[in-house]
Amino acid sequence: MTPTPVTEQSINQAADLLRRGELVAFPTETVYGLGGDAANPAAVAKIFAAKGRPADHPLIVHIASAEQLTEWAVEIPDAALKLAAQFWPGPLTMILNKRPDVPDAVTGGQTTIAVRVPSNPVALQLLQAFGGGIAAPSANRFGRISPTQAGHVAEELGDRVACILDGGACSVGVESTIIDLSDGQPAILRPGRITRSQLKAALGTEVRLSPQSKIRAPGMLAVHYAPNTMALLCPADTLIAMTDELCGQGKRIGILAFTPAIAGIPCPNLIKLPEQAEHYESALYSALRELDSRQLDTILIEQPPDSEAWAAVNDRLSKATV
Ligand code: TXA
Ligand code: MG
Repeated sequence: MTPTPVTEQSINQAADLLRRGELVAFPTETVYGLGGDAANPAAVAKIFAAKGRPADHPLIVHIASAEQLTEWAVEIPDAALKLAAQFWPGPLTMILNKRPDVPDAVTGGQTTIAVRVPSNPVALQLLQAFGGGIAAPSANRFGRISPTQAGHVAEELGDRVACILDGGACSVGVESTIIDLSDGQPAILRPGRITRSQLKAALGTEVRLSPQSKIRAPGMLAVHYAPNTMALLCPADTLIAMTDELCGQGKRIGILAFTPAIAGIPCPNLIKLPEQAEHYESALYSALRELDSRQLDTILIEQPPDSEAWAAVNDRLSKATV
């Protein structure tokens, strides 16, 4: 499937495809989504089939504005309205109690639902043209690296999708922050660009980090977002020795660096990412995908700092490495 340039006409055509129960891949500010009509169980079933995703893993419903929340959720707490006012449209997904009429296929049979209003203009135009909710996981095959460019979606899904809207590279580059607001104790299920401190400040309450949630979130599986090539996370001070050792064994290695010391290692398969956390985050998946395509034996990833700014990156790297 060749990606389609974005025009008013192609957005309207994509909205029509959604109405007919077809799948449309579209850009969001985080990663590309594989969208289907959230109110149509047959369309939702197609999403699971195209991704190769187990049917009990719930999807995120994308909506055009917070005003549509009541079409999907009940018992919406003030906290959700506060967060919506501050962070939507944007890379934040909220888990709320679902309306009884939401198809079970969307939520994997759970009593809660994930919703978000994306800020990417193409995503918003598509949502407005379509009118309803678009269920969309990341547009990759299950367990693989999320796509941040239209070409990645074509590689992942080929003709399993009716249309790929090409909105260029995603600005955030990692999946949305997920906060569970379904039981009165806000908890982060997946770190993202919107940080725990920002959420705490907006809510004026504690926000737990929930590595082992009672609720299913495939992004929380230990191995996820993984390249096919073996990837290892190495502190800068051991990475050089590790490179020497593996090269000495005749191994073809790739390096993902961000500090000048490591970026200076003479290695044909070294990619230097930005030193600033947000810029690194934006470039991470496409760099991993690129190294993964080069038939290497091992990818060595320079370990980022253990600070809040790097929380989303560290979460994804820990899942991409052995
Ligand atoms: O940035 C994003 O969130 C992207 C773009 C396309 O919006 N979407 C995305 O979708 O990352 P996906 O399906 O790859 O990840 C959605 C995550 C999964 O970990 C899923 O389990 C979790 O949201 N989730 C969905 N519904 C849930 C629920 N009711 N309770 C807990 N987690 C839920
Ligand atoms: Mg995903």
